[in-house]
Order: sequence, then C-alpha cells, then structure tokens
Amino acid sequence: MTQFLRRIFFPALCAIASAHAQSKPGQLTIDVDHPGTRVSPLLYGIFFEEINRAGEGGLYAEMIRNRSFEDAATPVGWKPVNATLSLDRSIPLNSNNTTSLKVEAAAGGGAANGGFGRDWESRNDPGRISVEQGMKYDLSLYARSTNPVTLTVTLEGANRKVLASQKLTGITPGWKQFSVTLTPTETDAFARIVITADSSSTFWLDMVSLFPQQTWKGRKNGLRADLMERIAAMKPAFVRFPGGCFVEGQGIENRVQWKKTIGPVAERPGHLNANWGYYSSDGLGYHEYLQMCEDLGAEPLFVINCGMGHDGRKMYAVPMDKMGPFVEDALDAIEYANGPATSKWGAMRAKNGHPAPFNLKLMEIGNENGGRDYDERYALIHDAIKAKYPDMQLVGNERTSSRKNDIIDPHDYNDVGSFLRNATQFDSADRNGPKIYVGEYATTIDAGHGHLLAGLAEAAYMTGLERNGDVVKMASYAPLLCNPDWRGWNPNAILFDQKWSYGTPSYWVQSMFANNRGDRIYPLTLDVENPPGRPIEGLVGVGTWGTQAEFKDIKVVGKDGKPLLESDFTKGLGDWKTPRGQWNTDNGVLSQTGGETGAIALVGDPLWHDYTLTLKARKTGGDEGFLITVGAPDDSVKSWWNLGGWGNAGHGVESPGMTCPRSVGNIENGRWYDIKVE
Ligand code: AHR
Repeated sequence: MTQFLRRIFFPALCAIASAHAQSKPGQLTIDVDHPGTRVSPLLYGIFFEEINRAGEGGLYAEMIRNRSFEDAATPVGWKPVNATLSLDRSIPLNSNNTTSLKVEAAAGGGAANGGFGRDWESRNDPGRISVEQGMKYDLSLYARSTNPVTLTVTLEGANRKVLASQKLTGITPGWKQFSVTLTPTETDAFARIVITADSSSTFWLDMVSLFPQQTWKGRKNGLRADLMERIAAMKPAFVRFPGGCFVEGQGIENRVQWKKTIGPVAERPGHLNANWGYYSSDGLGYHEYLQMCEDLGAEPLFVINCGMGHDGRKMYAVPMDKMGPFVEDALDAIEYANGPATSKWGAMRAKNGHPAPFNLKLMEIGNENGGRDYDERYALIHDAIKAKYPDMQLVGNERTSSRKNDIIDPHDYNDVGSFLRNATQFDSADRNGPKIYVGEYATTIDAGHGHLLAGLAEAAYMTGLERNGDVVKMASYAPLLCNPDWRGWNPNAILFDQKWSYGTPSYWVQSMFANNRGDRIYPLTLDVENPPGRPIEGLVGVGTWGTQAEFKDIKVVGKDGKPLLESDFTKGLGDWKTPRGQWNTDNGVLSQTGGETGAIALVGDPLWHDYTLTLKARKTGGDEGFLITVGAPDDSVKSWWNLGGWGNAGHGVESPGMTCPRSVGNIENGRWYDIKVE
C-alpha cells in the first residue's frame, strides 16, 4: 500500500511545485535548422462582451446611469432632492425614447444622479461619478416645463461641495436640448450631478448625459481613456464583440439588434441585457465597436445573432420561415461596415461620421449555439453571405455537417489541472478540418477572483495554441472587464470601478504573450534529470473530514537521515498545534473526536524540506478516512493527501485550484494503516 500511495502522491505534488531541487545542470537544445509551424499573427485578441457592466457604466464613458429613463419601471439611478420623481410617458422625446422623468420640485429641489453605483438611489452613498480638477465634462439634457423656470445643473463632491455649476434658461413646454460644459474645481471620485429648479415648479427631463471631453482618442460618444489604455496595452490583434450571451438574449426580443444601436444616441431605444441582468442604452453600438477596433489597429470580429438564444439552459430557435430578417441583418451589417458610401448602409456609416469602410473580414454566426437547429440556421446565413461576400471568413460556434466551416469557436472554461493537460490538446487537431478560434477560455474553477496559478495554467495552454499555429488561428480570454459591484461572471481580466482599475494575473499573462509574439516554432528538447525547482517546504500535519481517527508513531526524518520529529503523545500534545477539530492524546495516541470538516493538527518548522514522514493512522468513526499534509505553510493549509475521501471512495491529492488524479479505494474502520510520504 505504501508503494502505491507514493506513486500517486508524488507525481501530483511534483506537478504543483516542481518539488525536487537538484544541482546537475540540464540541457536545452533548439534546432534552428528545422523551423516548424508559423504562429498565427492574429492569434491573440480580445473578446469584449457587455457583461459585468463592461460597457454600460464601464468602457462607455457615459457617466449617468439611466440617462433616458428607459431602464426600469422606476427611475433607477435617480434620487429626489426636495422633490417627487416619477416616470412619465405623456409627451415622448421620440418614438424610441418614450419615457421621461417628471420632477415636481420645491424651490431649490430637483433630481440627483450618482452614476453607476449599485443601488445608489436607495443607499447613503455620496455618488460614483469620478471627475478630475480642471478637466472638461459635457453635460447635455432635454428639458421641458409648463411654467417658466430656470434650472441649475450642479456637480457636487462627496461632501456636497459644489465642484461646478451652470444655469439653463429658456425652458419651454416642448422638448428642447441644452448643452453646457462643467469644469470641476477639485478632483473627486464620489461626485453626483444634481438638477434643480430655482423656483417651485414641475419640469421634465430626458437624455441627461455627462461625458468627459477627454475620451480615448478624443472620440465623441467615446470610451473611457484609462480602461482603453489598459486594453490597448494588450496589443489585441482582433476584437470579438459584442458578446457572448449578450448577443443571444433570453427571448428573441432582447437579443442584440445592431440596427437599433447606431445613429443619434437619443434615438437608440436601448434594451434589457437579460442574460447579465442590466439595461444597455446601446450608446456603445455597432459603429462605436467598429471605431474602437480601428483605433486599436485590431481586426473586428462581429458576432451576429443567428436566430437562436437561450434562457438559462433552455434554447430557443426562430422558425426557419421567420429567419428572413436575421439573414438580412447579417448582410446589412457587412454593408454598413464595408459598403461604399453610395450603398444604403454604407451611406448610413458615412452619415455617422465614417465615410471610409471599416473593412470587416470576420463574422461569427451565433454564440455558443449548436445542434440541428444551429446547423440549419448556420447554412442559411452562411449561403447568403458567401453568395454576396465570398471573401468573408465565417466563424461557426461548432463544426456543422451541412456546410464546411472556415473557422470554429470552441470555448473552454475549466480548472488549473485541465488547462495544464490541455496544453497539448491541439497537437492532435484535425489538420484537414476548419481552422480554430478559441473565442473564450479562462480558469474559472477554484480560481478565486483570479490568481497566479490560474494565469500560469492559461499560459501553459497558450503555448499549445502557439505551437499549433497551422490550425489555431485566434484566441481570446474571457471575460475582459468587470465592475465587481455588478459582477455577473468570475473571474475576469480587468477589474474597475468609476476611477481605478487593475489587471488580474490572467490579464498580465495575456499582455505578456501578445507583447512578445513569436512567429515561428522551432523544435526544442530539454534534457534534465529532474526539473529544477524549490523543494516542498513546511510543516507536517494530520487531519480528518467529518471523520474521527487516531494517529501515532509520527516520525519525520531529514534527507541526511537526521530525525526531525518523533512524536511522543504520552506527554500530551507538546508542540502540536490543533487549529481545527477536537484533538486529545491518550495512551501515546493522538485522536480527533469531533465531526467537523477539515480538522487538522500540525507540527514542525516552516523551513523543513526534503523529509520523509511516516506514521500510523486508524479511522474510528465517520464517513471518510484521513488527511495527511506535508509542506504546510501554516494553519491555513488546504492542500493534503486525502485518503478515503469523496465519501470514502478514493485517494488523491487536493490543493486549491488543482484537480489531481485520484484513485479508487477506501479506508476501513478500525484498521491501522502504515503511511509514508517521501
Ligand atoms: O464569457 C462569459 C459567457 O460565457 C459568455 O457570454 C458566453 O458566451 C459564455 O457562456
């Protein structure tokens, strides 16, 4: 038994820590005479999805939440200030923007907006609008009033100090647009905007917008500069947009419809981003995405709804005889991006400020759709596009049987162990099949909010993407952005709030690979007896999981044969620490009698290394067996060899973020086992 357990224990631990230091140098040989596969120049890109408020309240630089009052049945994002607020549909601003805010205000009263702070309106939160001293912010709104009134627009700091203020006069019973510039006197990350009436009155507001003049590349209706700089530093070769499940929607009516996301923002209806639980004004629309790609120098890859979507696990598919508008949307999207300014949709693009084509070459048909329904709809859209635009490269969600695919997009959300193993996954990919674009991948299991091991596992996987450049043409980590207050998915590459942001280890892995693109793979051999690395270092310990057990004759011997520990439980616990569980000593035996999970007793020196642990263990009650740990840092240890784990069905090494191989086996009640860990 000892032999068998050593066999499963050590390979796994070696994988975790490259445990055995050794001094003999190894030899790395690179065969420069035999250049191999070319790495795809398009390999590393990004996937931008409207998820976690990545766009609305994130990258899209608009600072006002619910600017058009179409978000919900109540004025979410808005707070009354000596006033009563209600939604009103009596006189719509236009047919796409039918709801406005009715403000019944006392003199000096009005409405306040705190930006994209979650539940800001119902909390004692100063505001989440971040402004910089001396920078210019464009405030624009539509207002009307049946009585003469002057409105004051004020930017207030966290302590209610006035940072900037402007008067709006000439308000009439009909809708009229007002635009002013606000220049704050101080920097404040917790500001709010307040719109008040100078005298007691009733007035209406719509499309209240606050934009920094300094957007990325200075674009109107543009993007937050700090976040875009972080993205640009990833040097993406392409951008897949705008989703993800966002594209699909939960019902056919709340899918992304790109035609409703272009043109004047006040005329964009916006829609509920049902899969990720918030409203999208669609101010960041098809045109803005194409512009972002151009400004990044990245190829655009537009994902179009293919007449399918999902609601939780339930898929829907539009009947084939109703697919006409979906096919048309795909064709028109290409014309909008590429058509001459004389074409219908090319003219629209020119009107929206971009007469030159955007040069869209890649389109994905659907997102994570599949099966027979997908095959049929893919064929329909594929044929229509290829007939009109034979050079368009089409990305399928999976391999279809009815049409040959240019590119397919498998997704991989997994644990550390799987990513390490999947580093060789594409070595055996079909060389005669479609090219591969791994459109979404990330370590999501036991990955916390992103950690180094997760990033390293992705890095290992990415070496496999590079090595198979003849087949694997593109890849993008997912998701890209997250405001943790609105987290709909975890983990993510970039975390941000209204002012600050940082990249997780996965972000830095992506950046490192994309900033150091190889172009050719060379054969390489590594000749080394044992991989070098740090030894496993730390305490030894014994424990149980909802189980009672006894331990004795615990010995630790150093590499040089010197004894480091010989337990003597006839004298009590001695130096043993027992942070979790009910531990006692009796008759030279250490026993755990409690029922808790993860009970543990530890002893030793954090600098012990290269040692052999031997002990005897006996289960006395409960459902499982024993936990044995070596190299433990301290009480927080969560890595162990679990003997009789998984309901006493197997033995295996467990470590956060790792799934190690596990063998079938059980621990018998009342039997003493000899255990040895070298
Ligand atoms: O990246 C997050 C989500 O994961 C995407 O929306 C979807 O395509 C996948 O299921």
